[in-house]
Amino acid sequence: VRQLMKQRRPPGFPPGPSPIPVIGNIVSLATEPHVFLKKQSEIHGQIFSLDLGGILTVVLTGYDCIRECLYNQGDVFADRPSLPLFQKMTKMGGLLNCKYGKGWIDHRKLACNSFRYFGSGQRQFERKISEECMFFVDAIDEHKGKPFNPKHLVTNAVSNITNLIIFGQRFTYDDRNFQHMIEIFSENVELAVSGWALLYNAFPWIEYVPFGKHQKLFRNAAEVYDFLLEVINGFSQGRVPHAPRHYVDAYLDELEQNKGEPGSSFSQENLIYSVGELIIAGTETTTNTLRWAMLYMTLYPNIQERVQREIDSVLENGRVPTMEDKQKMPYVEAVLHEILRFCNIVPLGIFRATTQEAKVNGYTIPKGTMVITNLYSVHMDEKYWTDPGVFSPQRFLDSNGNFVKREAFLPFSMGKRCCLGEQLARMEMFLFFTTLLQRFHLQFPPGTVPTVTPKLGMTLQPQPYSICAVRRQQKS
Ligand code: HEM
Repeated sequence: VRQLMKQRRPPGFPPGPSPIPVIGNIVSLATEPHVFLKKQSEIHGQIFSLDLGGILTVVLTGYDCIRECLYNQGDVFADRPSLPLFQKMTKMGGLLNCKYGKGWIDHRKLACNSFRYFGSGQRQFERKISEECMFFVDAIDEHKGKPFNPKHLVTNAVSNITNLIIFGQRFTYDDRNFQHMIEIFSENVELAVSGWALLYNAFPWIEYVPFGKHQKLFRNAAEVYDFLLEVINGFSQGRVPHAPRHYVDAYLDELEQNKGEPGSSFSQENLIYSVGELIIAGTETTTNTLRWAMLYMTLYPNIQERVQREIDSVLENGRVPTMEDKQKMPYVEAVLHEILRFCNIVPLGIFRATTQEAKVNGYTIPKGTMVITNLYSVHMDEKYWTDPGVFSPQRFLDSNGNFVKREAFLPFSMGKRCCLGEQLARMEMFLFFTTLLQRFHLQFPPGTVPTVTPKLGMTLQPQPYSICAVRRQQKS
């Protein structure tokens, strides 16, 4: 077997740790993979290879290397790997995991246009986010300063912003069906990088092994699919062609217009996949960011206090924050940026693949090779950050307290497949964070200090924690 693997490693391929026969380097990834991979790069270089059970993979480390590949050679690194798991989940269609080509272009364009048209391009959209912020803080108020786990509330509030764009409507915080769907979907985001999922990619026949986490993954995916099919049908009722009310309507317009076109990628199935991907990509990430932000503000009361001082000085008489206030709040901006850098919500990005043979740093990477972008390593890159292991919002401020952009900051990745929701996520984070800290002082229940060790998965999230949100001021 070892001989076989050696043969498979093509000439000029980057070096890497020695694989264990058959399963390769899968076991090494069982604990914090982003940390393990960064350490490996200290031995093997910025670009090195891994063997994931026979799937040859290249890992990119540090800002320079990731920029060279994702940006300077944008077209070459713009594909997604045709892994058995993704093939089974979305048949390489939809949007997020779509192969690079016409299907992806069509779906990305439609999603971007819809986000603009039904989202940030609308004057009243910001007001709708503010309304959701109010539902959110009111729901927190119901806990009256007593300990509670904010995870569900944050998830519901955040997903409602994407729901507005996709379905034209929010779901109430007691909608059990929607909550359940999000819960099992986000469980799948965790399971997608579990050892079982990696094993499935290497040995797809384990599909027929009746136990193991991959079975749970398949069951969850089927349940999510059925739920989405039902809601999509519900929200497309009463549709008037060419007068779209939301993303689903806009998609159905495209579907009808392109009916009979041989190369069309629009289909009922791809509609369901892309709706699912937009919901989960928008919810899981922004929710985790806000949950980390709440945790760190509680851990660092002096930072929380400075944030609140800035909020109070800009939002006179407790008025509602708007996006115009953002530029007057450099400290809030610095804190949110440092949360994104330090907490690494998507530590290894989303797996990429090469569209053609690539030459990088003297190495040759064949077409179709899986590529892992270690975004965590960018945020810990000592060439660009001093003491990267220290949590310090100050690094995003100049000596006059103005916000400064940093180059080696890629929480949304870069290049052709960069995050499509960055602008929306930034709006949500700013409005939710300022509204929350304007109204509440956050503290841990007496005698408790939660861990900051993340729960592992495709995204990093805090372990469940309880918090007390104590009212700061009268409602204005
Ligand atoms: C892709 C991060 C919020 C939709 C990505 C990628 C990252 C990322 C790292 C991978 C890009 C790559 O392949 O290199 C984040 C973070 C967010 C966030 C940190 C919040 C703090 C959102 C939101 C939405 C969204 C709000 C939409 C509602 C997507 C989609 C892709 C993507 C559709 C796939 C793009 C493609 O393949 O063309 N995001 N994201 N994200 N994100 Fe986000």
